Amino acid sequence: MSPTFAAENKLEKFQTDTSVIAVERGVDTFMNACHGCHSLKYVHYRDLARFGIDKERIATWRGDSTLDSAMTSLLSDEAALQSFGKVPPDLSMIVMAREGGASYVFAYLTGYYLTPEGMTSNHLFPLTKMPDALEISTATDSVKRSEIMEQAHDIVSFLSWAADPQKAERESLGYYVIGYLIILTVLLYNVKLQVWSKLKT
Ligand code: HEC
Repeated sequence: MSPTFAAENKLEKFQTDTSVIAVERGVDTFMNACHGCHSLKYVHYRDLARFGIDKERIATWRGDSTLDSAMTSLLSDEAALQSFGKVPPDLSMIVMAREGGASYVFAYLTGYYLTPEGMTSNHLFPLTKMPDALEISTATDSVKRSEIMEQAHDIVSFLSWAADPQKAERESLGYYVIGYLIILTVLLYNVKLQVWSKLKT
């Protein structure tokens, strides 16, 4: 995909997929590609279980951590400072913390490219200290690139879910409430018709 967002300085709108299956794929990729450096201190393994992700999968991700632990990384701040000169930010709320939200995070992850000098840079964040974790800058064939775009899509969907795990529940509750109000309106309208028909006779 061409980085048109950089040229026009506007982000392609990210479509979040917070289905259990997409979030589950997102956690899996996150654990492999991001968790070595980034923590999710407000997300607990049990939140994943509550959302409906398979307990056995969760067990492979959490290793020796308990189901009640937060998804913190094993990388210490000191080690991070030594390696990157910067502590990688906690990603629990990252889609809320950046202007552009999920669209920004997606464009950032997929925005790495090789400069003519063979250096890795990023369209959105040229001097970022983070390496190209999904290795998109060196992926040349289109199949590989679209695989990476899908991985990034799953990760960002997961991070969007993580920033507001109750959103799906809230929305489905909203549908129930609206459905209930519609039924109530129909019933009351019928009552009104009956009352009026009696009054007219
Ligand atoms: C090798 C360590 C490492 C890995 C692996 C890594 N990151 Fe990072 N990440 C960093 C560092 C260091 C920063 C701070 C960059 C800076 O501010 O220059 C960072 C910053 C970020 C930011 C914030 C950017 C901003 O606007 O400030 C996001 C979002 C992010 N990483 C997401 C991810 C995701 C998602 C993955 C997995 C695909 C990932 N990172 C993998 C080290 C890493």
